[in-house]
Amino acid sequence: MGLTSNFQHDRSRDIIARIHLAKVKDNLSALRKQSGGKPVWAVLKANAYGHGAIEVADAIKDHVYGFAVSTLDEALELRTAGLENEILILGGVKPEGWPIASLLNLSIALVAPDNLSELDEFLKNNQLKIHLKIDTGMGRLGFLESDILEYQKALTRIKGSIVGLMSHFSSADESTRSFIDQQLLVFKKIKSTLFNLDIQPSQIHFSNTDALHHGVIDSETHIRPGLGLFGLSNHTQTSDLQPCLDLLCNILRVKSVPEGTAVGYGRTYITSSPMKIVTLACGYADGYLRAFSNQSRVSIGGHYYPVVGRISMDFTTIAVPDTASIDVKHPVYLISSDPTSPLSLKSLSQLAHVLPYEITCGLQRRISRVYTT
Ligand SMILES: Cc1ncc(COP(=O)(O)O)c(C=O)c1O
Repeated sequence: MGLTSNFQHDRSRDIIARIHLAKVKDNLSALRKQSGGKPVWAVLKANAYGHGAIEVADAIKDHVYGFAVSTLDEALELRTAGLENEILILGGVKPEGWPIASLLNLSIALVAPDNLSELDEFLKNNQLKIHLKIDTGMGRLGFLESDILEYQKALTRIKGSIVGLMSHFSSADESTRSFIDQQLLVFKKIKSTLFNLDIQPSQIHFSNTDALHHGVIDSETHIRPGLGLFGLSNHTQTSDLQPCLDLLCNILRVKSVPEGTAVGYGRTYITSSPMKIVTLACGYADGYLRAFSNQSRVSIGGHYYPVVGRISMDFTTIAVPDTASIDVKHPVYLISSDPTSPLSLKSLSQLAHVLPYEITCGLQRRISRVYTT
């Protein structure tokens, strides 16, 4: 009992994601400014794209209208942590989740015409704020115009609870806004169909981070950015957004090896001279992608060293010149929040042919998240 209760944390494997909350706040201000000052639904799904939903929400709660998450579980996590802002569940909620959503004042996106009569019954005795999702060109969730017409009676019955109208852009990452404009046209048409049915929600929201890059959308009342809060964007010209995550780990072993030593699974790297192979306490089960094998670099004490051999589940190996002295107590930078660094999320994502936020979303629970304000 004494032994386990006194034990705090296994320091032999220390992996830390350091998240700079002041930068998240600056990013939020920059995004708001881009929208002409519209109130923000901050999208914090998938644990705030891996950055920690509760901590990020707490840091920005006074500066946003609400939080948008993907699932009821994610909404409950924020509500039970004491966050009182509006919370919108983007992925919809099944009928069994409506009572708790209503009790905790959660809003839900209505993403399909299923269960409309059950919803009507539920709303006779309960309150639930609904945002009607319109499919304007994404082709997955949301009502098409034909759905609106087919289910107009049912929608009219619940119109008092429909407080918002929303849609999602499929191609805002492109350099031209032609498909954005096409989606806006579809939206305008469906909105007028709804208005003719006397369904006139007060909120309209559309813009994700990349859409904001294409300019203000006059018809929306709120914006809905996610990745931009974390300094990420698919557009290159994003100097006003700052990445806000560093990933560090510790060294497990420094080993001097002779020329011709094979390193790691599959022996994909063989030393061409005597050198030091340094084993790091981080692998793909922590979120450091296997695709970085023999590709990426890390930084120790301001020097960059190549990752050599295959990244394994728990370990990564780097090659260091035989003459370099490596202190095992030195932290190792795997990801840097400096956008100009070769360890930036942008550079790393290009190496692995993934999106930067695929990397942050994959940072696992074995990583301690530490916050700076
Ligand atoms: C419905 C919806 N709205 C808004 C966002 C936020 O988009 P982004 O992270 O590109 O800013 C997402 C994210 O995928 C989403 O699914």
